[in-house]
Amino acid sequence: MMQDQQRRNVMRVAVGLALAALAPIGAVQAAEKVKVGLMLPYTGTYASLGNAITNGFKQYVAEQGGTLAGREVEYFVVDDESDPAKATENANKLTKRDQVDVLVGTVHSGVALAMAKVARDTKTLMIIPNAGADELTGPLCSPNVFRSSFSNWQPGYAMGKVAAERGHKTAVTLTWKYAAGDEATSGFAKGFESGGGKVVKQLTLPFPNVEFQALLTEIASLKPDAVYVFFAGGGAVKFVKDYEAAGLKNSIPLYSSGFLTDGTLEAMGTSGEGLVTALHYADGLDNAKDKAFRSGYVTAYKAQPDVYAVQGYDAAQLLKAGLDAVKGSDKLDKDAMIKAMGAATIDSPRGSFTLSPAHNPVQDIYLRKVEGKENKVIGIAAKKLADPARGCKMM
Ligand code: PHB
Repeated sequence: MMQDQQRRNVMRVAVGLALAALAPIGAVQAAEKVKVGLMLPYTGTYASLGNAITNGFKQYVAEQGGTLAGREVEYFVVDDESDPAKATENANKLTKRDQVDVLVGTVHSGVALAMAKVARDTKTLMIIPNAGADELTGPLCSPNVFRSSFSNWQPGYAMGKVAAERGHKTAVTLTWKYAAGDEATSGFAKGFESGGGKVVKQLTLPFPNVEFQALLTEIASLKPDAVYVFFAGGGAVKFVKDYEAAGLKNSIPLYSSGFLTDGTLEAMGTSGEGLVTALHYADGLDNAKDKAFRSGYVTAYKAQPDVYAVQGYDAAQLLKAGLDAVKGSDKLDKDAMIKAMGAATIDSPRGSFTLSPAHNPVQDIYLRKVEGKENKVIGIAAKKLADPARGCKMM
C-alpha cells in the first residue's frame, strides 16, 4: 500500500517537473497583440486624406503578413471630423477606454495639438501621419511623440525659396486661419524673403470655408507677382477651380505646398494643369520602393496613392521599427521602442529618411508640376531639409 502511494507521489513530481520544463515554451508562443488607435478624419473636407492614411498603414501591415514584428495588430478607429473641439474626448476614448498602445493621428493640426496633449499626459506612444503643426516637433516636442509626415514650415519654406529664385519680388498669401495655414504661409514668407522677395499681404478665411470670391477680387486688385496658398482636400479642389474661373491663372502664378494638388487632381479636371508646388513626395520618383508601393496600393485599393497614403505607410514602418526592438517579449517596453524609433532609417516611397532629434522627418522637398493627373517631379526644392525645431528641449 505504502509503496503504491510513494510511487504515485514520485510520478506526480515527475509530471510536475516535466510540465514546468515545458511552461516557458508556452509563454513565448504568442507575443501580446499591439493595439493601434487610428484617430483620423473620415468625414468632412479632409475625409479622403484620412482614408488614404488608413489605406497606406494597412497596406504595410498586410505586406508583413498581417502582423508587425510578429504581433497581431488590433485596430480601434475614431472619426475625429477635423474638429478640435472634440479632439480631447476622442483621444481619451482611445487611450483610456480602449487602452491602445499607440495613437496614430491625425490630419488637422488643431486636432493633433489636443491629441498630443493627451498622449503626453498618458505617456501613450503617438505617431502623427500628417498634421504639420510646427509646435509638435518644436516647443511641445516629447519623447513619445513622432511624426512620419512633415512640419508645416518645411514645404512652405522650400516653396518660398524657389519662388524668389524664379524672380518674383512680391507675393500675397491666402489660407485657412488655423495653425497649418498660419505656419505654412509664414514658412513661405521666410523662404521668399530670405531670397529677396516681400510678402505684401496675408489673407485668410475660417476653416473649412470655401467662399473665395471676395479674396480673389482683392488679389486681382493687389496685383502681386505671385500668390502662395495652403489648402488641401475638398477645399483645394474648389479653390483651384475658382482661381481659374476668376481669370487669375494666366495672369498671376499660383504656388502652394503640394497638398493643393495631391489626391485632388481627378476632381479638379484641367484647372490644376501646370501648377508648380513643393512637397516631400511626387509622381515619377525613380526608386524601387516607390514602384513596389504604388503597384501594391493600386492592386489593393484600385486607386492611385498620394502623399497621405505614403505617410500612413511610413507610420506603420516606424511602428515596426519600435516593435522590432522588443520582439520576443510579451509586454511592450516603451523606452526601448522610443529609442529604436528615434534611430530608425525609414525606407519610404518618398526616398529614405531619418528623424531629427525632435522626431520630425529630415527629407528632400521636391519641386513638382501638374501634368495631366500627375504631380511630376521637376527638381529638388530643398535637399535633406530639417525643421529648425525651435524651442524643443529634447535636442
Ligand atoms: C494640417 O492641418 O496640418 C494639414 C492638413 C492638411 C494637409 C496638410 C496639413 O494636407
